[in-house]
Amino acid sequence: MADINDRKRTLFRHPLAAIGGALTIAGGFIFIVLLLLDISVGGENPYSSLVTFVVVPAIITLGVILFLIASWLQVRAARARGEHVRFNLRIDPTDPNYMRSLWLFLGLSAALILVVSYSGYRAYEATDSVAFCGKTCHTVMEPQYVTYKNSPHAKVACVECHIGPGASFYVKSKLDGTRQLFRTALNSYERPIQTPVHNLRPAQETCEGCHWPQQFWGNKFTTRTYYKTDEQNSPWTISFLVKVGGGNPRTGKLEGIHWHMLAANKVEYVATDEKRQTIPWVRVTSPDGTQKVYKSAGSEIPDINDPATEIRSFDCMDCHNRPSHKFLAPATALNLALSTRNVSPTLPYIRQVGLDLLNASYEDREQAQAALDTGLMAYYQANYPEIAVSHAAEISRSTKTLKTIYAENFFPEMKTDYRARENNLSHFVNDGCFRCHSGNMESDDGSTISSACSTCHLIVAQGPSEDLSQLTSSITGLDFQHPEDIGDAWKEAKCTDCHTPDSGY
Ligand code: HEC
Ligand code: HEC
Ligand code: HEC
Ligand code: HEC
Ligand code: HEC
Ligand code: HEC
Repeated sequence: MADINDRKRTLFRHPLAAIGGALTIAGGFIFIVLLLLDISVGGENPYSSLVTFVVVPAIITLGVILFLIASWLQVRAARARGEHVRFNLRIDPTDPNYMRSLWLFLGLSAALILVVSYSGYRAYEATDSVAFCGKTCHTVMEPQYVTYKNSPHAKVACVECHIGPGASFYVKSKLDGTRQLFRTALNSYERPIQTPVHNLRPAQETCEGCHWPQQFWGNKFTTRTYYKTDEQNSPWTISFLVKVGGGNPRTGKLEGIHWHMLAANKVEYVATDEKRQTIPWVRVTSPDGTQKVYKSAGSEIPDINDPATEIRSFDCMDCHNRPSHKFLAPATALNLALSTRNVSPTLPYIRQVGLDLLNASYEDREQAQAALDTGLMAYYQANYPEIAVSHAAEISRSTKTLKTIYAENFFPEMKTDYRARENNLSHFVNDGCFRCHSGNMESDDGSTISSACSTCHLIVAQGPSEDLSQLTSSITGLDFQHPEDIGDAWKEAKCTDCHTPDSGY
């Protein structure tokens, strides 16, 4: 330590030390003011927290560093001039001047340590908040933030799924986050953001904290109404019992869709594409240790002994890959809006016209919203002038709904919508379950992964009406009837072969 008395006399002469000292003092002052503001106003504002607990402490620390550098430079310069620089490590309690300086020094250091550690803690809190994750980088995270707000997990913090408890994933994610911050600053991030997320915490450690499949059982009753693209927007309703299943410890039964997840079973697979959509190889390990390998007939099978081949253990996210960021296909969103009358089914061809408007390609959301604003009315004025007058209120309500559907599901700036975001939980819009349950996965002993419609759900009612009582129904299950007469084509082809993004799915 340089002699504090000497330093006190000479140090601030050096411009760097003066700047450093000024930064430290000003920073400390600003910190106290902002801290008082933060305590009195409260609330969750990621920007102010970032300034108070990251930017200001960084300024203070910078000031201290400049000050130390200045001291070092001065000592070095003095020595170069041949002057004797005296270091005095002894504490000299008899010199009151010296003691005052020492206490001042210690007091300032303690205050600095307090500021830095409290800031560190608050910075940790701030960077873990939903607002920080979702809003700080506006455009980049907007698709995920908006869909999150519309999901059943809107009250679950981002970090509950993306980081989970414990230090190691916290550190990993913050390192990752820092890289992302730079990419955002340099505007060099991908559009759309890459998915799947490769360093996502295994589901066992996140989802299972709140949902435990050992405790699921039974079926879930779901009803959906679809509307065709004809002039009448003809409805067609299907009701299912989805065999959610699970393992009920009270009955000891293992069954249904959550069979894959039960501790005793292990399913592994290899995907040949980045998005895990093409799966040619699956291995099942039973509780007794026997293994069965299924291979896709007619596909090239990757060499599973090659260390470069990633063998992935099937987990919650392989089906529930959109628990919180679900980008609805426009046909799905329109069917829902028609059934709730937010888009009026009395408007001729509304299902088709709405779909075309949503599906068109737009530069940015302003252009899209402008096109949606006038699109419907322009169509009816041109093709059904009387309806444009008599149904003006319906057209206006439907226009409003279309704009909301677009705002919640399409993000042209980030090139993100249903076309860039597969949902694996079904097999209708994306292949999902049919990646494996397509009937052409075969094991050496000739067994296949089941593709019978009743493996996963029972269709208990179906028919051309919105009214359940008008449908054909049976609690023990019906053979599927395709809403449009396409013969047996739905048995031979995958649903996604015909129901493509062009048709709104
Ligand atoms: C219920 C759990 C959950 C919550 C809560 C959650 N996410 Fe996700 N998130 C996921 C899953 C699962 C994926 C997709 C993983 C995959 O396919 O690899 C994902 C993917 C992402 C992606 C990658 C792009 C994409 O669409 O796949 C981003 C970015 C993201 N989340 C940001 C956020 C932000 C920001 C929040 C909070 C506003 C949040 N997440 C909240 C589970 C969640
Ligand atoms: C912090 C607790 C928490 C975590 C972690 C969590 N969830 Fe949830 N989840 C909830 C809550 C709360 C609901 C809403 C329950 C309801 O609506 O009945 C929910 C609902 C769901 C639903 C039903 C959604 C629907 O449409 O009805 C699914 C599926 C689901 N979560 C899957 C997941 C998956 C997969 C993960 C891990 C990526 C996960 N959850 C992580 C709390 C959580
Ligand atoms: C094989 C695919 C698959 C896997 C793996 C899977 N699920 Fe599911 N899960 C489903 C399907 C399908 C449904 C029914 C969805 C629906 O009808 O909305 C469902 C329903 C749920 C529900 C809602 C249950 C209800 O009664 O509404 C929750 C919660 C859930 N799953 C959580 C999980 C968790 C946690 C895991 C991982 C431990 C997991 N799932 C693994 C396919 C899967
Ligand atoms: C990675 C491949 C893969 C995917 C994707 C997949 N499964 Fe499976 N599933 C299997 C395998 C393998 C079996 C077991 C076949 C056997 O050996 O009996 C199975 C079995 C089942 C069973 C029968 C369980 C029982 O009671 O015996 C159901 C139900 C099921 N899956 C539903 C689904 C649903 C629903 C989805 C989509 C959300 C899905 N699976 C996605 C591989 C997969
Ligand atoms: C491996 C399991 C599995 C098999 C096999 C299966 N489905 Fe499904 N199906 C699902 C799941 C899971 C959903 C989504 C349920 C939900 O969203 O609640 C679904 C959804 C559907 C839907 C509604 C789609 C939507 O998004 O509105 C229809 C229609 C349907 N299935 C028909 C069939 C028919 C017909 C067959 C036989 C050719 C079949 N399924 C075979 C698992 C399966
Ligand atoms: C050979 C092509 C083809 C295949 C394969 C096919 N569909 Fe369709 N599907 C159609 C056509 C064409 C329509 C009529 C579209 C319209 O009017 O908008 C239709 C309409 C529908 C509708 C109602 C209207 C809508 O689009 O919302 C449902 C539900 C449906 N199909 C389910 C399925 C399911 C489930 C499968 C797979 C098991 C499947 N389809 C396979 C051609 C096909």
